[in-house]
Amino acid sequence: MKHSLSTQTVHAGPDGDAATGAVNVPIYQTSTFRQRGLGDNTGWEYARTGNPTRAALEAAIAQLEGGTHGFAFASGMAAIGAVLSLLKAGDRVLLSRTVYGGSFRILDKVFARFGVGWTLAEGEEPEAFERAFEEHPDVRAVLLESPANPLLAVTDLAAVAAVAKARGALVVVDNTFLTPYLQRPLALGADVVVHSATKYLGGHSDLVAGLAVTARADLAESLAFVQNATGGVLGPFDSFLLLRGLKTLAVRMDRHVANAEILAGRLGSHPAVARVWYPGLPSDPGYGTNRRQAAAGGGMVSFELAHGLDPRPFFRALRLVALAESLGGVESLACHPATMTHASIPADIRAKVGITDRLVRLSVGIEDAEDIWRDVDAALRAASTASGTRGGC
Ligand SMILES: Cc1ncc(COP(=O)(O)O)c(C=O)c1O
Repeated sequence: MKHSLSTQTVHAGPDGDAATGAVNVPIYQTSTFRQRGLGDNTGWEYARTGNPTRAALEAAIAQLEGGTHGFAFASGMAAIGAVLSLLKAGDRVLLSRTVYGGSFRILDKVFARFGVGWTLAEGEEPEAFERAFEEHPDVRAVLLESPANPLLAVTDLAAVAAVAKARGALVVVDNTFLTPYLQRPLALGADVVVHSATKYLGGHSDLVAGLAVTARADLAESLAFVQNATGGVLGPFDSFLLLRGLKTLAVRMDRHVANAEILAGRLGSHPAVARVWYPGLPSDPGYGTNRRQAAAGGGMVSFELAHGLDPRPFFRALRLVALAESLGGVESLACHPATMTHASIPADIRAKVGITDRLVRLSVGIEDAEDIWRDVDAALRAASTASGTRGGC
């Protein structure tokens, strides 16, 4: 019997330990495995190649994303780097107009040195991707985020995947912001899904991890090779923590979404806020597309402070919400993309895509929504008061 996704989040992968009946997969804290004789082993040889705790996590994420093979890495960037390692010199990657700054940086500063180019799509609509393919016949992969970091722009994943497939390009979707509980990109045509599992999948801001999933046997073979050859694997203890996080994914995401919907609605009518981006708001330009391809808008809300307001007093006045990099933990976090998560994107590109100095990105936690709102509202008032005495930016 096929269970619902929320049941699967609790039981995905090997459900416990068959040898002892333990309901959790043990932490196999070992780097190597005794072999019975030459060429005669238990199926485990060396922990970079495979470790049972990591393998349990890899099976769990493959199941949740609707794929056949999962791969766990030491960070989201290690996962993205491994997937990009499937390309070769002379290839080009077409990126969503806005992506996580690190995904831009690894292409611009690392893969560019090995002859892999990059291009940003000029918009979210499939025609923008068509135009980029026409302009750059060397595009061999697209790397998409939807909703994209930090402006939560929504891309029609099935439509763009069809455009890319027609050109023979690999379709990679970073599903960090919604998780498989809310969006399953492989079913929409993606070849590979990647995650910063540091975020919602882990869910408690206590580990750094990355995951990649595919349902294509050829890609699985190549990814397994790259994972073993480059070696950025996730350790057994962090694999265990991540398996533990997955079990509560559904209840956490439901609460993140409920709280984000409340905050986004209230921010929209706050006098200190110029604009709100949240794909779960019917007024958001991405609402319709997101509704078709995802179950909800997620737990991230971005907003721009009203013209003339300085973001510094806003961040200084927050008490419950922490000013911090990262997102997706149970606690609410706020960040200033222009100087934090997206600082590695040159200022002219930031300005072009709309990442202004007044942009605030909120990772709405699972605390009581009223407590989060009181904190954000008080900080907005502090920013307004400060703007009366000091110039804004
Ligand atoms: C959408 C997205 N992808 C990838 C990453 C990179 O993941 P990690 O920090 O786990 O390396 C991040 C990190 O913030 C992210 O937000």
